Amino acid sequence: MMSDVSLFIPVILGTPRKGRQSEHVAKFIVEQIATRDRLETELVDIRNIAIATDDAGEPIKDPQFSATMEQADGLIIVAPEYNHGYPGLLKHVLDTCLKEYIHKAVGLCGVSSGSFGGTRVIQNLLPVMRELGLMTIFYDLNFSNVQQLFDESGNLIDKPTYIRRMSKFMDELVWMSTVLKYGRREVSLEKKDSIEVNTHANKPCPEIATRMGADAMDTVLEVSNNTQTGEIKATPVIPILQRE
Ligand SMILES: Cc1cc2nc3c(=O)[nH]c(=O)nc-3n(C[C@H](O)[C@H](O)[C@H](O)COP(=O)(O)O)c2cc1C
Repeated sequence: MMSDVSLFIPVILGTPRKGRQSEHVAKFIVEQIATRDRLETELVDIRNIAIATDDAGEPIKDPQFSATMEQADGLIIVAPEYNHGYPGLLKHVLDTCLKEYIHKAVGLCGVSSGSFGGTRVIQNLLPVMRELGLMTIFYDLNFSNVQQLFDESGNLIDKPTYIRRMSKFMDELVWMSTVLKYGRREVSLEKKDSIEVNTHANKPCPEIATRMGADAMDTVLEVSNNTQTGEIKATPVIPILQRE
């Protein structure tokens, strides 16, 4: 039975800041996951990822981070709200992988010193998750006024409330991760190449398709880049799944 399969759901601690409160939150989440059957987890601290800052994206992939993302069935991202957005380093690290994330579930946890519980950082992360090929669940975790939530040793003061909230969140994340794991294994994509990794270009692009006289809804642009001449060519094609 698929529900008996164990899942690996790492927790990404999304800030390197000294004195970060998000560390307490991430550790609480890891501790809670460990109480569940058939779940494995690991804390992925972005502070420990040696990442270049003079480049971006897949060329600066960290092999360990990539392997962990590849192995993951789902993810939890603990993101503090910085000026209503996400920490730059979190995005920089996430951007180094792509195919590792495809068709995997992600649950988002917002942390803030303000009273909105990081809802704005979560909203800002949603389109990023989609572009990375991750499937967001419809429960979030919110830790507002975080400075008041933990004692000096980093223990959550009102554990029952957060255990209850996390239980719903985890049920949903486990369900979504299980279904997607099943899908990745059992549901074949007839012509994998046509739907494969998000290359940011091979996607329906209604504006250009219409300009080229093609039916926008059924059109994918095949983009080729001639490395010798530098010419970039976009050709509308009918997706392979719809050709038959
Ligand atoms: C650069 C920066 C910007 C911040 N912007 C916000 C904000 O927009 N809203 C908010 O509620 N808290 C904001 N905070 C406070 C954080 O939410 C607070 O530090 C909280 O503890 C979570 O972040 P931490 O894990 O770094 O501690 C900001 C903190 C920093 C360092």
